[in-house]
Amino acid sequence: MENHSQNGTEALLKVSTLNCIDLSNPDIHQSVSLLKQACLDCGFFCVINHGISQEFMDEVFAQSKNLFHLPLNEKMKLLRNEKHRGYTPVLDELLDPDNQVHGDYKEGYYIGVEVPEDDPDAEKPFYGPNVWPEDGVVPGWRQTMEKFHHEALEVAKAVARVIALALDLEVDFFDKPEMLGKPIATLRLLHYEGQVSDPSKGIYGAGAHSDYGLITLLATDDVMGLQICRDKDAKPQIWEYVAPIKGAFIVNLGDMLERWSNCIFKSTLHRVLGNGQERYSIAYFVEPSHDCLVECLPTCKSEDNPPKFPPIRCATYLSQRYKDTHAELSVYNNHQT
Ligand code: OGA
Ligand code: NI
Repeated sequence: MENHSQNGTEALLKVSTLNCIDLSNPDIHQSVSLLKQACLDCGFFCVINHGISQEFMDEVFAQSKNLFHLPLNEKMKLLRNEKHRGYTPVLDELLDPDNQVHGDYKEGYYIGVEVPEDDPDAEKPFYGPNVWPEDGVVPGWRQTMEKFHHEALEVAKAVARVIALALDLEVDFFDKPEMLGKPIATLRLLHYEGQVSDPSKGIYGAGAHSDYGLITLLATDDVMGLQICRDKDAKPQIWEYVAPIKGAFIVNLGDMLERWSNCIFKSTLHRVLGNGQERYSIAYFVEPSHDCLVECLPTCKSEDNPPKFPPIRCATYLSQRYKDTHAELSVYNNHQT
């Protein structure tokens, strides 16, 4: 466990500045170069002028609060199912078992691609109907979240085009049906309740982890909390805060992209420290289709640099990562109503 309480003050106050990609910039070469630099360096950048209005972002945050403000017994009626849809209570997720004594001090809500029960695709592990609050419990909630899910996917596709160019691929490489044409894309609302984190005691808002997929788009309120670690092998690890940026998405690369790119692009370790203030964030995890084979890209290997990972099916990889980090659903049997 880290001992940050005495000697870590400097590291804890370090704030990093991210490269900012303006999606409305007509100079695509400039965007590609900024993004590539960020991907080679820390695996985090931010995206502005992404097409989702500030007004709508505010509405999504307001609706997220409305949901989390419901009494716990109402939220437990919406408990996540085996398709990873619905409510995840505080401590449900344990991202960094080596350093955490409890699970994460955050509650969440997963919303995936809506696939009706009678659709053959609903058999796939990450497809199916979402869990929605009953009509009238949080008015307009489903519409807001479905609209955001839809708009965020367009942002993700635009970012993926710049990533493709930065990897010397065709611009539409990730647009193919087996990639983002039929993606697994999961919106996750998050609420950190204001617990003060203490790394020396193994208490975190969210434990250190890297995300699993292609990219994650993250919108946060203005409460500081997210930290990144540029070099996970450094001892001691140096953690830097990422300042909240109003209206922007913070984008980070996931482990599938690290595998695809043969580690040329990094999926960077990050975590959330609570400072006693309540904090809301909205993550949008973007993964390719269930059957997509994630294998070393042609532009990322050579005779001297063979693939570091065997090919793996997206859904297989993702299922294992969720299983490793979430509580067994049976622990909630007594709570179900
Ligand atoms: C995540 C994550 C950061 C945050 O959900 O994977 O890293 O600021 N969230 O909530
Ligand atoms: Ni994350």
